[in-house]
Amino acid sequence: MPSYTLLERLLFPSVRLNARKLERRLSGKTVLITGASSGIGERLAYLLAGFDARLILTARRGDKLAAIKADIESRTGFRAAIDIFAADLREPEQTDALLAYVSQLPGGLDAVVSNAGHSIRRSVRESLDRYHDFTRTMAINYFAPVRLLLGVIPLLEKNGGHIANVSTVSALLLPVPNWAAYQASKSAFDVWLRSAAPELNALGVSVSSVYFPLVRTPMIAPTAAYKNAPAMSVEIAAKIVARTFYSRCRVYKPWWLAAGELASVLFRGVWERSAARKISRKERAR
Ligand SMILES: NC(=O)c1ccc[n+]([C@@H]2O[C@H](COP(=O)([O-])OP(=O)(O)OC[C@H]3O[C@@H](n4cnc5c(N)ncnc54)[C@H](OP(=O)(O)O)[C@@H]3O)[C@@H](O)[C@H]2O)c1
Repeated sequence: MPSYTLLERLLFPSVRLNARKLERRLSGKTVLITGASSGIGERLAYLLAGFDARLILTARRGDKLAAIKADIESRTGFRAAIDIFAADLREPEQTDALLAYVSQLPGGLDAVVSNAGHSIRRSVRESLDRYHDFTRTMAINYFAPVRLLLGVIPLLEKNGGHIANVSTVSALLLPVPNWAAYQASKSAFDVWLRSAAPELNALGVSVSSVYFPLVRTPMIAPTAAYKNAPAMSVEIAAKIVARTFYSRCRVYKPWWLAAGELASVLFRGVWERSAARKISRKERAR
């Protein structure tokens, strides 16, 4: 794994967590983390394990979750109670089983980190016989979190709870070629949650949308172009999500994103024409 470069320090500066505030928010509370077997969700589980909370870790790979639980529990300083629940959140019955499990917990549920996700990088031309790329990204990045949240909203309402959604900066910028399946599905849930947030706030449930840039996790490993691209560390990403528990901020964005959002409005035409020219050049060079 490349070390953190100067540019990365500038783009993704380190984050200070207020442990006292986090302790106050988490003490005796129950937090559900989806996608906890890897990357951001896994790192967040390690971070929150130092607090007096109950963590419910879910993902498809039960063996990975069990190994993470065992490793956390073998460390000094761990205080949380850790439950693991293996589920493929694209499967409605498995989500229902998770919801049934969460619903019977004596203290209910206080927070959900909607983090499980899947990315696909493929051009539309290479996807002509791969409609399933679009259904499977929508299944995990859109329908799964919608179904899960619909099930837990009554629990969160009861406890004045919190939802943190792990989104991507690309939901706020001009879409880039080759990522149509991923970007459309992440944007769909981002918009769903932004639309739902005022309703949820009125029920006493806070909502944070966390817009991450590239984060150095297994998700980006298959993309060769990202090997040396600037990326946020997974430790910083986990802290940013954890901070939303006490800040309850509506939005986290990297400091430089506003410039990108403005450029997305001003330069859509320029960007789309130049992207098309670049793709044509590549096609001709093949
Ligand atoms: N890495 C980035 O650059 C980046 C940037 C912006 C936003 N994000 C978002 O951050 C979130 C976490 O990604 P990551 O980078 O940490 O990737 P990751 O290391 O690949 O983790 C993805 C997690 O999602 C779980 N998952 C995938 N499909 C699932 C399914 N069908 N049912 C249940 N769980 C499933 C995976 O567990 P199993 O395989 O065990 O099921 C894994 O724990 C994603 O929502 C991603 O879109 C990532």
